Amino acid sequence: MLVIAHRGASGLAPENTLAAMEKALELGACAIELDVHRVEQELVVIHDRWLQRHTDGHGLVHQSTLAHLAGLDAGNGERVPTLWQVLELIAGRCDLNIELKGRGTGELLAPMLERAIAELGYSREQFLVSSFNHPQLARIKASLPWLKIGALTTSCPLNYARFADELGAFSVHMDVNFAEPEFISDAKRRGLRVYVFTVDEAEDILELQLLGVDGVFCNWPDKARSIIGNDQR
Ligand code: G3P
Ligand code: MG
Repeated sequence: MLVIAHRGASGLAPENTLAAMEKALELGACAIELDVHRVEQELVVIHDRWLQRHTDGHGLVHQSTLAHLAGLDAGNGERVPTLWQVLELIAGRCDLNIELKGRGTGELLAPMLERAIAELGYSREQFLVSSFNHPQLARIKASLPWLKIGALTTSCPLNYARFADELGAFSVHMDVNFAEPEFISDAKRRGLRVYVFTVDEAEDILELQLLGVDGVFCNWPDKARSIIGNDQR
């Protein structure tokens, strides 16, 4: 089972910062998840739509400016990084799950991924792009047909994982609260990988492992890896 460092190693460093990415790499993470919003013509790595939970700033992220963001403290003196800064830092050393949060993120991401492959040593297979916004995923898949898509859901829908199948997704990403055995087995029957967020409790991790889940998003990836033993990538 793959352990994906959620927002970097966010249990150990301010989430979605370069420090959290560095910590995840230091711990030997095979994959890191992060969240992106659009600010001006850039993608920035931050989870919320609003600045106040993550930084000493206020207001909506998408109405901010890059100059304003550069002056904010994202915890322990860390800055809100751009996605390109994170891509440069990681430089192909692990897989990356980029979660599209705001509007207009997919249009900026597609050329950036091509550039990261050309300039920073990534391979196509290392990128997995996910979102709760499935039309946005369909658009980026249409512009980059090779791209692995992760369909996020916080529910257990009546039609189980059909939506992910229809999207041509690589994986379905389920909320741990709705990771029902039937939903998991339906997704796997359709050939989809199943990743579950956000899982930090040992009992949950072990139960999901027994259910055949392919990966878990963890804030403490080191702890999760010690719990699952040898069954890791
Ligand atoms: O991508 C998994 C997980 O991060 C999705 O939810 O709200 O933590 O971004 P959230
Ligand atoms: Mg996320």
